[in-house]
Amino acid sequence: MPRAKKHPAPAPELVEAMIDRRYGFSAGRGRGLAANPVLAAILGRGSCRRFRRKPVPPPLLEAILAAAQSSGSKSDLQACSIVVLRDRVRRRRLAAACASPWLAAVPVQLVFCADLRRHRRACARHGLPFAQDNLDGWLNACVDAALALQAALLAAEGSGLGGCPVSALRNALGPVSTLLRLPPGVFPLLGLAVGYPAAPARVSMRLPPAAVLHDEFYRDCPEAELLAYDARRHAREPIPPAKQKQTGLYGLAPVCTWSLNVARQLSVTERADLAAFLRARGFNP
Ligand SMILES: Cc1cc2nc3c(=O)[nH]c(=O)nc-3n(C[C@H](O)[C@H](O)[C@H](O)COP(=O)(O)O)c2cc1C
Repeated sequence: MPRAKKHPAPAPELVEAMIDRRYGFSAGRGRGLAANPVLAAILGRGSCRRFRRKPVPPPLLEAILAAAQSSGSKSDLQACSIVVLRDRVRRRRLAAACASPWLAAVPVQLVFCADLRRHRRACARHGLPFAQDNLDGWLNACVDAALALQAALLAAEGSGLGGCPVSALRNALGPVSTLLRLPPGVFPLLGLAVGYPAAPARVSMRLPPAAVLHDEFYRDCPEAELLAYDARRHAREPIPPAKQKQTGLYGLAPVCTWSLNVARQLSVTERADLAAFLRARGFNP
């Protein structure tokens, strides 16, 4: 019998090259490191909004949910709840409620909620006041929920799935809360669309270290760095006309840079009714 040929394992990708791809220029960071699987998955990740029909196996989904619950939690308060939406009709209803048609074709939709309800019950159970039922308590619960989402996303991506966080749920807080039967004290912070990706992830370019990372203390980044990022990003990932923000107000920009699109988006107030919604739903922001 001829011996089977041994194929050498592929060389691990170099961290420096992955970092350069993330920043879009040769940043000279992470020199000499070989990527471990976790680092490689994070540095090479990108959001996925188009999925194959293939269902997510239940044990894998269970593992992703346990990974979500494995993230850190402020004071071990465990203030996150996750609603798992698999039913097609309910997923379609969610997509319609938040005017995001692509959500209808997502195999599994997870909704990460900031949950103060269990704390309220613990205080009642032990005859104590719930004095921390305030903005700080809500913020802590939101941080827990966001960290749990990120852990789930990385677990999903590391398992060959793709995903995308969905803040569009907050475009329709009332209908979403009704659809998910959320009781008072439970706030739908973010969705996470999960499934097998229809295409490989695309690494989207991030702001340079000079803009985001500060050695010992904060310094405003020179304008030139930000302009250079706009130019670099426009050259590699131009924003298509359909992705330009507020074209109704400002028209189509011939060159829409990242910062122009950010400024256009932020020139209009979004979700101004959030504080009123929270109060109506039993929070005290
Ligand atoms: C908190 C949060 C909310 C997001 N909400 C949405 C959303 O509602 N709809 C959407 O298409 N993408 C959403 N995204 C995905 C971002 O658009 C995406 O992360 C960003 O464009 C960077 O691209 P990348 O993740 O591929 O690197 C969200 C991401 C985060 C972190």
